[in-house]
Amino acid sequence: MTTPKPRILTGDTPTGKLHLGHYVGSVETRLALQDQYDCFFLIANKHAFTTRSDKPGDIRQSVIDIATDWLAVGIDPAKSAMFIQSEVPAIDELTFFFAMLIPFNRVMRNPTLAQEIKDKDLGDKYPFGFPMYAVGQCADILAFRPQLVPVGEDQLPHLELTREVARKFDQLYCGVDSHAEDKDYVKAGGLFPVIEPKLGRVKRLVGIGAPGSEGKLLKMSKSLNNAIFLSDDADAVKTKIMGMYTDPKRIRVSDPGETDPEKNPLWAFHETFNADTAWVEEHRDLYKNGKIGDVAIKRKLIDVINALIGPIRERRKQFEQRPDDVIDILRAGTVRANAVAEETLALAKKAMKQDYFGRKLTIG
Ligand code: TRP
Repeated sequence: MTTPKPRILTGDTPTGKLHLGHYVGSVETRLALQDQYDCFFLIANKHAFTTRSDKPGDIRQSVIDIATDWLAVGIDPAKSAMFIQSEVPAIDELTFFFAMLIPFNRVMRNPTLAQEIKDKDLGDKYPFGFPMYAVGQCADILAFRPQLVPVGEDQLPHLELTREVARKFDQLYCGVDSHAEDKDYVKAGGLFPVIEPKLGRVKRLVGIGAPGSEGKLLKMSKSLNNAIFLSDDADAVKTKIMGMYTDPKRIRVSDPGETDPEKNPLWAFHETFNADTAWVEEHRDLYKNGKIGDVAIKRKLIDVINALIGPIRERRKQFEQRPDDVIDILRAGTVRANAVAEETLALAKKAMKQDYFGRKLTIG
């Protein structure tokens, strides 16, 4: 028998279609690792209810959109399990137990939650389920006892909380010494590994719009209306790039241009997506010295982006015509996910002395 491959767990909240920021933040890592690891990709549909509980139809559509995008980028369902969070009950059950292990104030100190409250203007009107989702995310992850969790930088606080929960559980219920090193928890008898994040090649991709009120370019995000989607057609890519923010101080081509990727998205995009580094260097100099205009650099970027997303767009069209196949793929992935998560839950209950009898789940 071959040893089983180490596992990966990660996922997306279904808020809409995937964009280039998702691609370089985490989707690319998933594609690169799907052969070496046993991959589980979760569609966090329950998390979508934290802020959109009044729009169940939209959430349903977003679930299908995300699954279609994943298939279009090249996630191979024969290798990787794509599944729906709400159809894996062990995740909820672990959430309840995990919620007993973390002080409420600790959850509320999570900077990603604090930022979300600010960005989405939630004030003190967020539902009870909003802080819950951070505990739920610990369960999303630990239900799979993965070795690696590929995420974008904004998810690191959630992963830190997950690490704390794993340590606490292993110490309380599996007899692991609190001085054990993180990497040794499982060896020392712990059920849960103290998981490791894996960041993508680009930590934070900027959007195509102007800087925000603090003078910094904003992160690419659907809600900020500054995204290029993996499903955008060639015309949309052209229009978006031609209209993108560049250097507002540059009136004539002969004016020196800003090439700092922190200030000019045009160069952030070339540095991220244009594999021809010699071209980028040469043209960056020309731009800086007022020898080439925006349009030529934008045209090149349009080609580069279309070369990347063209094949994705084509594959997406094929899956769009087969929505029933997408559901079948999700069903099969959810069956595989439940096999692992149920095993984890049974082991967790045993460690907590709450193993009274067995059970079997049926997915229809
Ligand atoms: N919170 C993540 C996001 O908004 C999605 C997510 C839910 C997730 N559960 C996860 C990511 C577990 C990694 C691991 O993008």
